[in-house]
Amino acid sequence: METIDIGITANGAPVSLPIGLANRHGLILGATGTGKTSSLQRLAEQFSAAGVPVFAADVKGDLSGIAAMGDASGAPAARAHALGRSFVPARYPVAFWDIFGQHGLPIRTSVQAMGAQILSRMLGLNTTQEGAMAIAFRKSEDEHDYMLTLNDLRWTLNDMLEEREETCARYGNVTASSISAIQRNILALEAQGGDRLFGEPPFDILDMMRTDDAGRGVVNLLHADKLMEAPKLYATFLLWLLTELFRKLPEAGDLPKPKLVFFFDEAHLLFNDAPKPLVQQIERLVRLVRSKGVGVFFVTQTPADVPDAVLAQLGSRVQHALRAYTPAAQRSIRAAADALRPNPGVDVRTEITAMGIGEALVSVIESDGVPSKVEKVKIIPPAAQVGPISDMERSTLIEGSPLYRKYRADLEEEMAAYKFRRRMKEERGIDPGPDTGPVHYEPGIYLKYVPTIDIGADPVKRKLFVPLLRIFFWGSVAFGGAALAGWL
Ligand SMILES: Nc1ncnc2c1ncn2[C@@H]1O[C@H](COP(=O)(O)OP(=O)(O)O)[C@@H](O)[C@H]1O
Ligand SMILES: [Mg+2]
Repeated sequence: METIDIGITANGAPVSLPIGLANRHGLILGATGTGKTSSLQRLAEQFSAAGVPVFAADVKGDLSGIAAMGDASGAPAARAHALGRSFVPARYPVAFWDIFGQHGLPIRTSVQAMGAQILSRMLGLNTTQEGAMAIAFRKSEDEHDYMLTLNDLRWTLNDMLEEREETCARYGNVTASSISAIQRNILALEAQGGDRLFGEPPFDILDMMRTDDAGRGVVNLLHADKLMEAPKLYATFLLWLLTELFRKLPEAGDLPKPKLVFFFDEAHLLFNDAPKPLVQQIERLVRLVRSKGVGVFFVTQTPADVPDAVLAQLGSRVQHALRAYTPAAQRSIRAAADALRPNPGVDVRTEITAMGIGEALVSVIESDGVPSKVEKVKIIPPAAQVGPISDMERSTLIEGSPLYRKYRADLEEEMAAYKFRRRMKEERGIDPGPDTGPVHYEPGIYLKYVPTIDIGADPVKRKLFVPLLRIFFWGSVAFGGAALAGWL
């Protein structure tokens, strides 16, 4: 089986990851500055060289160097030589992506295609609000009024509020307060830039699974610096990508090499404060994408950053040094040490805190599904540039991308809405009717609704109405009784 050399032991023996087993997932752990991102870069480069496309969230921008030639007289070259390896500078095909469309090709989808469940996670809704959201989606499907942007969702929610009785009768109970809670969370998502995710042309995950003319896998880098300030958006966006992979890829079982390998750098952002249903969904998808030929590697500081159910599925481990300042940290370090398959020749508990930068304890999954005995290695340095490329180089690469024309086309808002509606109607086998062209779309008109949604509006109406009805009823009874008794 084809393998990737990860590092070299003190005896000069390489420790390698079998490429065909990359779908058994992996974990790169270590304190800040211990060389995790370098290890990620080494793996990403080697997957690319083996013809496997890669996706990585580039949180600090330092992975962009993969697109530029390494320096034959730089520090990584010297490190390679010290390990007894030749250093052949290289660069790899990179596609840059950015939700905000500034540092890469935009990734967009429609509210309708994202679906009620993931959007509810993105908005941080509770179960009741999620129920209201599901109704909004059903209603818009039933009325062939598909939702492209968050504004479209707002309109549907407004309609639900205005025709609340019909909506409740038809789809089940929806309270005004759930609807306005969703409206408020939409505002919060927009404040984080989440509205940029919705629009045309639609993103196709298969475009992340390309190889270049030389047969090398394209390294897809998601510019994620702003996403750090919006962890929930980051987490649900990645959840959505995994869901897309799961939806679009056929069942594949174990392949000679994976179709795509995902790296989540700074994975603590993904799970920090993440609500339980979100964690459960991520856990489930990580388990399921394996048989679709997708490998997932989490990169983070301590094993405590990753939920146990996810940890249990990560076959290969690259354990950089950990630092212990508190008793709790010491316990978690011991747990991390004990999670590695013991090797009589390696004193894991001592090494785990003593290793230097670029050193790691490595245990890889083997063909029988069992992790190898742990080895202490020095990681082989990346062959491309370490550290970011310039903005100029980046824009040149983005504009030269074969996908540039497909995704860059900035559609006018009316045109996007028009194209989307026709596409949805055609895709769902419904006659799109006469083509009346794009209709004028007034952004911002919804705003007059949002702040005025009064949570108590509905009950107040009833509060007035019911007593009035009572007065009328008892009044008539008294009047009728008096008339009968002949008092009047
Ligand atoms: N094997 C190594 N030897 C020496 N320095 C290294 C090695 N690997 C990485 N570095 C350097 O150490 C610093 C931190 O590495 P990085 O991979 O960003 O760490 P982390 O992601 O764990 O915070 C970087 O400046 C990097 O160039
Ligand atoms: Mg890092």
